[in-house]
Amino acid sequence: MENNKVMPSTLCAGGGVTSQAAYEDKYAKGYGVRYPEGHIIRFYERILKYELGLTSGKVFDFGCGNGTHAEYFQSKGFEVYGVDIIKEAISQAQSIMGERAKLIEPNQSVANLFDTQFDVVFANQSLYYLDNANLRRQVDELYSMTRKGGICFFTMMGRKNGYTKHITKEFDNGLSEVTLSGRLNERTYIRFVNDESELKNIFTPFKSLYIGEYLINLYEPPTYEGNSHHYMFIGKKE
Ligand SMILES: C[S@@+](CC[C@H](N)C(=O)[O-])C[C@H]1O[C@@H](n2cnc3c(N)ncnc32)[C@H](O)[C@@H]1O
Repeated sequence: MENNKVMPSTLCAGGGVTSQAAYEDKYAKGYGVRYPEGHIIRFYERILKYELGLTSGKVFDFGCGNGTHAEYFQSKGFEVYGVDIIKEAISQAQSIMGERAKLIEPNQSVANLFDTQFDVVFANQSLYYLDNANLRRQVDELYSMTRKGGICFFTMMGRKNGYTKHITKEFDNGLSEVTLSGRLNERTYIRFVNDESELKNIFTPFKSLYIGEYLINLYEPPTYEGNSHHYMFIGKKE
């Protein structure tokens, strides 16, 4: 059976499922972007720099992976701090952030890891691995870690994302099990967002400044993975 080769899920304390096993496997095989992604460059150039005039300060990167986006923000003049649940990712991220990159357990509190307030809290393609209760707690923590007037940048997978065609189980906690074969060959647990009003609701109490989306969509002919629709939420702590 095809699914025999798919990485198993990870059970964390409390019995919730996480995507840790899938990411351990991916990073062991060399996973991770080597260059900043287009929507991150646009966030910096169009929003932080041009619209908001924010070109220095401290950034907290939740689910920082190998640190490629931390390196990008550092090259622009920011001091970046990051956390991730995967040892291999953090060891790569430490070559960019040093001790400001820390390994955490899934769903661990990060509010008191660094004794500072942040000008920007940033989570690119990481918060959607959290179930409803942990997502709520994590957003509240990120809010508490942001200085008054500070900015957030968060992405979430949209319900239009092609991964929804590969949902194999739905949980009461908001996560959907997604089982992919072929190129990715993985099982992850994702919290999909239906629309913009749900997005705003999730990221309250941050005040919404900009809502957007990004995607790659090869539709002729349709591919197995389908489109990569993600929402972007850019907000402010007033
Ligand atoms: C799609 S990758 C994005 C990595 C990085 N943010 C980037 O933009 O290149 C998702 C990241 O989220 C991390 N992750 C998954 N579940 C997490 C959790 N519960 N808490 C923190 N990070 C998590 C993974 O280890 C992985 O590094």
